[in-house]
Amino acid sequence: MQSDATTIIALRGWHPAIARAEAKAMFADSDIARTDSRRLLTATGESDWENAKLMSGCECVLVNGGISKWTSLENLLQQIKSEKVEDMAVECWRHEGKIPVATKDIERQVGGLFHDKGSTFNLENPKRRFGIVLDNSAGYVAWGWMIGQGPGKHGWSAMRANKRPFFRPVSLEPRLARAAVNIAAGVSEGYVVDPMCGTGGILIESALTGRPTLGIDFDPVMVEGCQQNIDWAEVNAEVKRGDATRFELPKNLAAVVVDPPYGRNSPSDERLIEDMLTNILAQDVDSKLVAILPVESGGENLDEEISTNIKLPGYRIDAAFGIPVHKSLGRVMIIASASTQD
Ligand SMILES: C[S@@+](CC[C@H](N)C(=O)[O-])C[C@H]1O[C@@H](n2cnc3c(N)ncnc32)[C@H](O)[C@@H]1O
Repeated sequence: MQSDATTIIALRGWHPAIARAEAKAMFADSDIARTDSRRLLTATGESDWENAKLMSGCECVLVNGGISKWTSLENLLQQIKSEKVEDMAVECWRHEGKIPVATKDIERQVGGLFHDKGSTFNLENPKRRFGIVLDNSAGYVAWGWMIGQGPGKHGWSAMRANKRPFFRPVSLEPRLARAAVNIAAGVSEGYVVDPMCGTGGILIESALTGRPTLGIDFDPVMVEGCQQNIDWAEVNAEVKRGDATRFELPKNLAAVVVDPPYGRNSPSDERLIEDMLTNILAQDVDSKLVAILPVESGGENLDEEISTNIKLPGYRIDAAFGIPVHKSLGRVMIIASASTQD
């Protein structure tokens, strides 16, 4: 193992800004820094890289690797430190644009380096995978040993909320719900609670990451349908009928993640959110809050945080991200902590 080697986090393309926030939360023991590339981060200090497997926006972590500007295949081969490894595979993929070299050629040549050291290969079921990502958003190449699924293998596009037995148009898409849960709870232990859980989009993603999970909804039809979805997903989450403005929180709470009914000009929705927050703050001031609210589309920036004038009484807004839904609808994901000034 080289102690001076670099750790790189390769992000999926859906929403790099949200994926960065997720990486910071899930690899909280490391310093995460941006590179010129929108989908490559570097990490200093050890974290539990296996968390990559639980994440929405992380393709994989590349450990004991490196990153440099792409110049030529020869230059890349010179920088890679090969060693003897049993049952390995080499995978090369692209982020955006085209660095003018075939990924298959890179895989063959890098495989050759390891072969020369006596490595054996197992493409069907490798014990270790060496990854190379060509990122043409800024002309970078990054490499290292892969932890996590890698590109396109997580199947988020196949994981649609409308495949569940109980679907409503309000159901959150799984990759958004998963990112929200991971950003909110990070590496904290304890419950994830959704006090307005609807069909259970947030609950299912939280339970799939192994967190203790509780959902509340006022509407008995939602509670029953949500239970059906939980059973269908075969996950361990509890859903109860209750009122978000007065339910009792579990003692060990990591985060509240909520997607409340919200109309911009609806005082009753604003009041409902305010009362929900008051109820949470009366019982707990340490947990994180992530709220997802519908807004008019147009405020999205997939690469950066956005500013928002939405206020969550009693909370300080740490960051906000815009998410496109369709032509006239967007969403804003707000990350907040209890405000100590109040
Ligand atoms: C936008 S939906 C949530 C959708 C959910 N994220 C999903 O993936 O299906 C908002 C939910 O809040 C619930 N709700 C409204 N007022 C409530 C209250 N006072 N207490 C608890 N739930 C409430 C509604 O019944 C509805 O299911």
